[in-house]
Amino acid sequence: MNHVHETAKVGTDTEIGQFTIVSENVRIGRNCRIGHHVVIHPDTVIGDHVRIDDHATVGKLPMKAANSALTQIAQLDPTQIESGVMLGTSAIIYRSARIASKALVADQASVRELSSVGEMTIIGRGVTIENMVIVGARTKVEAGAYIATFSAIGDDCFIAPEVTVTNDNFLGRTEERKKHFKGITLEDGGRVGANATLLPGLTIGGDGVAAAGAVVTKDIPEAEVVAGVPARSFGQVPTEQLLEERRKKRERATDELVVKQIIRFFENGTVTNGQR
Ligand SMILES: CC(C)(COP(=O)(O)OP(=O)(O)OC[C@H]1O[C@@H](n2cnc3c(N)ncnc32)[C@H](O)[C@@H]1OP(=O)(O)O)[C@@H](O)C(=O)NCCC(=O)NCCS
Repeated sequence: MNHVHETAKVGTDTEIGQFTIVSENVRIGRNCRIGHHVVIHPDTVIGDHVRIDDHATVGKLPMKAANSALTQIAQLDPTQIESGVMLGTSAIIYRSARIASKALVADQASVRELSSVGEMTIIGRGVTIENMVIVGARTKVEAGAYIATFSAIGDDCFIAPEVTVTNDNFLGRTEERKKHFKGITLEDGGRVGANATLLPGLTIGGDGVAAAGAVVTKDIPEAEVVAGVPARSFGQVPTEQLLEERRKKRERATDELVVKQIIRFFENGTVTNGQR
C-alpha cells in the first residue's frame, strides 16, 4: 500500500515500496527503485535509474526557528534529483536542493535548501550539508562531517570524517555577526584530514591539505600541507598526490628549474675557467 497523488507522474519500470508517499506534481523517471516509507514532497523532480532507500525524505521544507539567523523561507524551487543518484536510508534532501547525476547521499545524511551536490560526489553517512552550500563533482565528504552555510567545496576534494567547517566567529552573539557570516572555500583537489576544524571565511587553495586534527586559522596556499593547533605549514603535498593538471605544472616547473641549473652551471663554468 502506498499513496501516489493523482497529479504525480511515474515512469515505466519504476518500483515504489509500501507506505511511500508521492505528493502533488512529483515527476519520477524510469526504472527507479523507491523504498518503503519514503516521503517525496510536492514538485520534486527525479530522473531515471534513481535509488531511494527506506525512510528517506525528499523535498522537505525548511523550518525557520523563531531566532534562526540563516534560514530563508522564500519561494523555493523544486528539489532536483538527477539520473543515477542514490539516496540512503533516512537521508533528508530539502526543497530546492539539487543532487547531480550519479551522486550518492548515504544513510542519515542531509542536504539543505539552496545547496547542490555535484556529479558522482559522495556525501557520507550522517553528513550535514547546511543551506547555501555548493559541493563540486567527484568530491568525497566522509561520515559525520559538518559543512556550514555559505561554503563552497570544489571538484575532486576530500573531506575526512568528522571535519567541522564553521562560519561565525562571533559564536552566535551580536547583530554584527550577521555581516560576517562566511563558510570556507575549498578549491579543486583540496583535502581535509579527520576531525580538522576550519575557521570561518578561509580559502584552502587547490590541492591544499589540512592535516588530521588541525585547527586552521589562516588560508592554506595551493598544494601546501598545514598541521597542528593552530595549524602551521607542514610542507608541500607530494607531487604524486596532486591533481593531474597541477602535477604536470609542478613537473614542468621542476624540469625548467633543472634546465636552468644546468645552463647556469655551464655559464658559471665559462666565467670561472675563462675557457670552455
Ligand atoms: C598530514 C599527514 C599525512 C602527515 O603524516 P606524515 O607525513 O606521515 O607525518 P609523520 O607521521 O611522518 O610525522 C612527522 C611529524 O609530524 C607530527 N605529525 C604528524 N601528523 C600530524 C598532525 N596531523 N598534526 C600534528 N602533528 C602531526 C608527528 O608527530 C611527527 O612529529 P615528530 O617528528 O616530532 O615525531 C597526517 O598527519 C594526516 O593528516 N593524515 C590524514 C589522515 C586522515 O584524516 N585520513 C582521512 C581518511 S580516514
